[in-house]
Amino acid sequence: MAVQRTFSILKPDATRRNLTGAVNAVIEKAGLRIVAQKRIQMSKAQAETFYAVHSARPFFGELVEFMISAPVVVQVLEGENAIATYRDVMGATNPANAAEGTIRKLFAQSVGENTVHGSDAPETAAIEIAQFFAGNEIVG
Ligand code: TYD
Repeated sequence: MAVQRTFSILKPDATRRNLTGAVNAVIEKAGLRIVAQKRIQMSKAQAETFYAVHSARPFFGELVEFMISAPVVVQVLEGENAIATYRDVMGATNPANAAEGTIRKLFAQSVGENTVHGSDAPETAAIEIAQFFAGNEIVG
């Protein structure tokens, strides 16, 4: 498997609890390199665009409100098989089902406030990275 890039968000429950460094330590320990990172306040329009695939779901409104409720840290992670590696490191969407040692098992509070986002496929990774980073902001 070649070196790949994935898009990550440390969500408002992480920044609110001052967990940026603790989550990044788990990411780096898994062998992923943080090749771009910035802390931003997402706008409602940005959050709606980012989660557009979920716009018909009953939790959409709450999800958007949560994502704009505090700053987030957006990142590009690089490594062998980075997309699947990061999904493994994140753990299951619902922290109640997340495996020991995963970010969501360690830190997440609920299915809604689950600490991190990670892309689920190469196509979505490319779209998500381009939504938040210019090419010259990513330094591998
Ligand atoms: P999803 O893409 O299914 O999960 P993942 O983040 O693991 O890729 O869902 C996106 C986000 O939507 C999820 O991280 C939290 C929120 N969400 C809810 O609030 N309630 C739910 O029942 C689900 C499935 C997701």
